[in-house]
Amino acid sequence: MSFPRTRLRRLRYLPQLRALTRQVRLDAGQLILPLFVRDGAGAPREIASMPGQYQWTLADLACEAETAQRLGLGGVILFGIPARKDETGSDAHDDGGIIQRSVRAVKAAAPELLVITDVCCCEYTSHGHCGVVHQTTHGHDVDNDATLELLARQAVSHARAGADVIAPSGMMDGMVAAIRAGLDQAGRTETPILSYAAKYASAFYGPFRDAAESAPQFGDRRTYQMDYAADPGQALREVEQDLAEGADLVMVKPALAYLDIIHRVRTQFPGVPLAAYNVSGEYSMIKAAAAQGWLDERAVVLESLSALRRAGAEIILTYWAKDVAEWLRHQ
Ligand code: PBG
Repeated sequence: MSFPRTRLRRLRYLPQLRALTRQVRLDAGQLILPLFVRDGAGAPREIASMPGQYQWTLADLACEAETAQRLGLGGVILFGIPARKDETGSDAHDDGGIIQRSVRAVKAAAPELLVITDVCCCEYTSHGHCGVVHQTTHGHDVDNDATLELLARQAVSHARAGADVIAPSGMMDGMVAAIRAGLDQAGRTETPILSYAAKYASAFYGPFRDAAESAPQFGDRRTYQMDYAADPGQALREVEQDLAEGADLVMVKPALAYLDIIHRVRTQFPGVPLAAYNVSGEYSMIKAAAAQGWLDERAVVLESLSALRRAGAEIILTYWAKDVAEWLRHQ
């Protein structure tokens, strides 16, 4: 039936009908707040390229965790900035490392809050790469298999400190299998793995690398993170592989420039919990425009995050998690 009997605007005149017919909803309980923790004393440092985000000290982290819990967030994901970096990133798998102490501090302050830890080497290595570096025929590169053992040790150490979910982000082949085996051997059979399964080599991570002080000192990450111009089917193969290796939840990253990937993963793998990481560059762009008065921050954020839900992600990692939770309360 066509116009004039069909008038699609009929559903839009009344706010009550618009509300009744909404399909996509944001829920604080499905938002994950990323937090950066710097080893050492002093005041929290605001991250210049991410206004409103901080490198917290251990002492202030507890307060952030309490707020996250009070707002009913789905959880936090922790990134550590160690006091000392070295070739193999040894702070990452030290039971007294910055992340291990952070997990214990968050658990003490907010026992109900879900704690996810990012498992990767780049925040801990002096060269800033996501694993151990070796010489290959094409120059220096990350040694995939030698890195797996470090990732497994890191994951086990995080779980021992109390992490609820382990999230490997290094895009090493076999990382999920290695971590699953390590956790199981350590008796952590019930600790789930959220794999950054389809993670692209992206310029949108720029501000994060300021925040985590993890920019690679030479080369880039294109030998391990995915090429944005590759066949999207590669993302599906990454997800399939990680699920076969034992991933319990999967992630697509970045989010806004990869809505097609989110949608494909959702369609291809129904029933698999899917997270989208609304990354640092996506945050900074909107913050910068809002600071100029060019965009309405709240409206643009709610619209953008709703797009991630519409594409098929139920879980959203976002630096706006606390703001969104507040906005939803006062709607
Ligand atoms: C790697 C990691 C990165 C991000 C999360 N985990 C950076 C990278 O791959 O270089 C980026 C997140 C963001 O940009 O917000 N440990």
